[in-house]
Amino acid sequence: MSFTTPRHFPATRMRRMRRDAFSRRLMSENVLTPADLIWPVFVLEGEGQREPVPSMPGVERLSVDLLIEEAREALELGIPALALFPVVDASLKSELAEASYSPDGLVQRSVRALKEALPELGIITDVALDPYTSHGQDGILDEQGYVQNDRTVETLLRQALSHAEAGADVVAPSDMMDGRIGEIRQVLEQEQRVNTRIMAYSAKYASRYYGPFRDAVGSAANLGKADKSTYQMDPANGDEALHEVAMDLSEGADMVMIKPGMPYLDVVRRVKDELKVPTYAYQVSGEYAMHMAAFENGWLDADSVILESLLCFKRAGADGVLTYFAKRAARLLTEQ
Ligand code: PBG
Repeated sequence: MSFTTPRHFPATRMRRMRRDAFSRRLMSENVLTPADLIWPVFVLEGEGQREPVPSMPGVERLSVDLLIEEAREALELGIPALALFPVVDASLKSELAEASYSPDGLVQRSVRALKEALPELGIITDVALDPYTSHGQDGILDEQGYVQNDRTVETLLRQALSHAEAGADVVAPSDMMDGRIGEIRQVLEQEQRVNTRIMAYSAKYASRYYGPFRDAVGSAANLGKADKSTYQMDPANGDEALHEVAMDLSEGADMVMIKPGMPYLDVVRRVKDELKVPTYAYQVSGEYAMHMAAFENGWLDADSVILESLLCFKRAGADGVLTYFAKRAARLLTEQ
């Protein structure tokens, strides 16, 4: 080997800054903190009740007394808010989802109990009819089985108001009906609930990654093979997400969400770049299940992969992430 031709040395060596921890830290562009995490939880009727969700190892449905204890820990770990999802008894499900707006329903009672016990913890409620319908769709069906938009919105208005009256800090419509954000905003204003925030599931895709969630809330069996593609978005589309996010903002949303999360980080980035509003993403049940399957097989290292997966949401532009890993991640971040 000879060096007769002059050697060319790189002026920029990317590895220089990567060499030591101090310079890696100085150039780090994004950080993940517990304040970025929203914890989705499943609430059950009763007292002292705890049920594992088989397709989501480590996730349990809890009665509200136990949930308060878990939520207290989340608050102490620095998690700002939790998102509440009810497991509704089959006997309360119906074609018209009347149980969704009962002032003494499971969600409404749970919100009251949580706000009483932990007033500083933000409570986000899901506005959608699927836990309450006998067919598992998010709205009210016509004779052909089509989800009727405006009829559904009327029920969503009652549901959202009942959540606000119970003390929910944020109502989060995940139903994907047209016009619901504007109408919910009008009703909240009319009823002097001017500070109830709306987190719009704006870019919610018709995704099969929601499977384990549907097991958790018990809507999977009722839904059967039916899908939600007449109201949730086509995974092929990106521009359409910007259209819908812009509409929800103009109708009065305070925060917007993209869902699922990891396969849709391009959409998170586009929304943040174009609209520059508080933007959230949901690392959904299927993403959680995939991770857990790999962890349980010893195929991936749990702690580091959890934190990497969540940091990537920040890099993509998300202001926060809904994740079933919230408490575990917050614990890891606190120990670091
Ligand atoms: C229901 C709702 C769903 C999720 C949140 N709210 C399921 C669906 O649309 O079928 C999914 C969350 C998850 O998969 O973790 N409106």
